[in-house]
Amino acid sequence: MQLVQVRDKQFEPYLSEAVILQKVKGLAAQLNKDYEGKKPLLIAILNGSFIFAADLFKHMTIEAEISFIKLASYKGTRSSGHVITAIGLDTEVTNRHVIVIEDIIDTGKTLTAFLPQLYNQQPASLKIAVLLHKPEATVYPIAIDYCCFTIPDKFVVGYGLDYDGFGRNLPAIYQLHEEG
Ligand code: XMP
Ligand code: MG
Repeated sequence: MQLVQVRDKQFEPYLSEAVILQKVKGLAAQLNKDYEGKKPLLIAILNGSFIFAADLFKHMTIEAEISFIKLASYKGTRSSGHVITAIGLDTEVTNRHVIVIEDIIDTGKTLTAFLPQLYNQQPASLKIAVLLHKPEATVYPIAIDYCCFTIPDKFVVGYGLDYDGFGRNLPAIYQLHEEG
C-alpha cells in the first residue's frame, strides 16, 4: 500500500481519481435531468468543495449558475464546533432553485448553521449535494438529496479536502492511516 505523508500524518489510498470522477459525472447527469429548464444556482462551500464543484459543474450541460461562500469549522482533524462565515454570498437566492455543494458532511454542524440563512431568503427549492457523508459522525442530521459516497468515520484528505491546509491537491481521496 502506497502511503502519503501530509504534515505529520500518514494517509492510505481510499477512493481513486477514476472512481470519484465516475460518480461525479453520474451526479452531473442526474442534475441535468432533475433541473432541466430550471436554471439552478449552485452554491459551493469553500474551501473543501472547490474541486468537487468544478468537476461537477463542468459536466453539467444545462443552463446553470455557480456561486461560492466560505465557511470554516475545522481545526486539524477535529471539527471545532464553531462555524465562521469568512466570505458571504453575493448572489440573490430568492425564487431560485438552489443546490448547495459541500465536500463532506461530518457532524452536520456547518450546514445546520448555514441552511437557515438560505431558507430565510425563500429560494424556489433548496437541495443538498455532497461528495462524502460520514453517517456515524453526524450529530446534526441533514436531509441529503444527492450523495456520491457514504464513508466510515475516518478523517480523509485529497480532492479538495485538507489536513491543516495541506493535501487538497491530491487527485484521489486518502484515509488517515492507523498503525497496527
Ligand atoms: P461538519 O462537522 O460541520 O463538517 O459536518 C463539515 C466540514 O468539516 C470539514 N471536514 C473534513 N475535512 N477531512 C477533511 O479534510 C475530513 O474527514 C473532514 N470532515 C469534515 C469539511 O470542510 C466540511 O465542510
Ligand atoms: Mg467544507
